[in-house]
Amino acid sequence: MSGVPVAIVTGGAQGLGAAICIELLKQGYKVCVADIQEYKGKHFVHQQEEEFGSENVIFSACDVTKESDYISTFELTLKTFHRVDVLINNAGILLEQDPHTLLSVNLLGPIIGCQTAFKYMGKSKGGKGGMVINMSSILGFFAIFGNASLCCFETWLNWIDKKLWSE
Ligand SMILES: NC(=O)c1ccc[n+]([C@@H]2O[C@H](COP(=O)([O-])OP(=O)(O)OC[C@H]3O[C@@H](n4cnc5c(N)ncnc54)[C@H](O)[C@@H]3O)[C@@H](O)[C@H]2O)c1
Repeated sequence: MSGVPVAIVTGGAQGLGAAICIELLKQGYKVCVADIQEYKGKHFVHQQEEEFGSENVIFSACDVTKESDYISTFELTLKTFHRVDVLINNAGILLEQDPHTLLSVNLLGPIIGCQTAFKYMGKSKGGKGGMVINMSSILGFFAIFGNASLCCFETWLNWIDKKLWSE
């Protein structure tokens, strides 16, 4: 098994997630870009393959609201790179007003991601351990007018992180 660390980044097709993927590749990680946007994600991966090599970066179609998509993303990553060391739950939406969609993507998504990571990476389940990073927002600490649902879900995510840390 290679000693090169492997990361899965959700919402990695654009924005902060894409920047995180590029930085990880520069640091020598192998990266699975997991995103709901297949066309954009595959295009981004092709660009990174040219710079970092096709053996170092893959795309996995993943809707973070679906446990089955997280599972297939972990399975694909393990099949390709033989290990997972880091999961970055970065996928999120900011300009969405529907609280059900916000709840599903910004809060339930990271929770499902953590549960799946524990299954595949948790030492108690035979895994080798690793790191899970949940992308939150300053909105979890300070309320901004007109963003009550988003502020609420980001605050919960911060508390979930504190709880998981204590476990
Ligand atoms: N941009 C900011 O100013 C800012 C500030 C604080 C926190 N954040 C957080 O950082 C993260 C990334 O933000 P960004 O600005 O890069 O956003 P972005 O909109 O540029 O990118 C988000 C990515 O997540 C993907 N995505 C959306 N729904 C998904 C789903 N259901 N399953 C899988 N992927 C999905 C999108 O396709 C996209 O590639 C988010 O969690 C956001 O809440 C952003």
